[in-house]
Amino acid sequence: MKFKTVLESVGNTPLVLLTPSPSRGKVLAKLEYLNPGGSVKDRTALYMIETAEREGKLKPGGTIIEASSGNQGIALALIGAVKGYHVIITVPGKTSPEKIATLRAYGAEVIVCPTVATLDDPEGYHVKAEHLLATNPDAYMPDQYHNKNNGQAHYASTGPEIWEQTDGTVTHLFVGMGTCGTISGIARYIKQKNPAVQVIGVDAAGSTLSSKVPFAYTIEGIGVDAVNENYENAPIDKIIAVNDADAAAMTRTLGKKYGVLGGMSSGAVMCAVEQYKNELGPDSISVAVFGDSGRAYLNKVFAE
Ligand SMILES: Cc1ncc(COP(=O)(O)O)c(C=O)c1O
Repeated sequence: MKFKTVLESVGNTPLVLLTPSPSRGKVLAKLEYLNPGGSVKDRTALYMIETAEREGKLKPGGTIIEASSGNQGIALALIGAVKGYHVIITVPGKTSPEKIATLRAYGAEVIVCPTVATLDDPEGYHVKAEHLLATNPDAYMPDQYHNKNNGQAHYASTGPEIWEQTDGTVTHLFVGMGTCGTISGIARYIKQKNPAVQVIGVDAAGSTLSSKVPFAYTIEGIGVDAVNENYENAPIDKIIAVNDADAAAMTRTLGKKYGVLGGMSSGAVMCAVEQYKNELGPDSISVAVFGDSGRAYLNKVFAE
């Protein structure tokens, strides 16, 4: 018999070919939505929780609190369900109803806060989570923005997977940037193997990083609103910021043209590949990380 537990099934996601077109080399999508919790965040949540358990920061039957625009929270809720933790997640108001329902389906307590433009806004979901932690001193907050194990999870798993799945031939990486754990971990690993690999980070137009005057955007999962250690440690060669409308249109195209139903951040990553295509020679091997599934956004992105 061959079987795994739910948590053992995190990672080892497939790499699928999107463009057989020789003029642009190969574009391969790393389908992170095939993780058991449906996103790239299963990897980081599991790595941070298991590290906290080993370090004694999280005790059996304890409480996990996190500010998350959804996927990190969903992954924590799934892990909490399996391991018996109480999970409280604060989310911004823009979070899709499907994601909020998913959090609740895994048994998490969800607190919906107003959508605000900066992370230190006192009304926002980050400050709310910090207040909750202050009043629950035994609770553990993974704090994906400031936890180095966020990036380390990708250094330990996603980076090596991409290297092995491409037999070391990857030339370009296209990775969405939110907390920047994904890009920092993958890029650090891959650049150690081959410093010539080009790393293209994909941001949301409107983020603090990409806009002089930040504005709210609807895309979920990406958008660098807090420049943190993960960002500073990420060897990024170029950043492309994508707006909501272009990302949504590309997300629909991905489903209809390629049969790959990614979320809006996957659409943004594919927009970046398109924008960059003149730099991609016939022998290039591009890996685009698709963070989550379009099923989480059926009413938001796919409703006509
Ligand atoms: C849905 C989703 N969430 C988050 C991220 C970014 O992850 P991180 O927070 O590690 O920067 C991505 C990146 O592709 C994503 O697609």
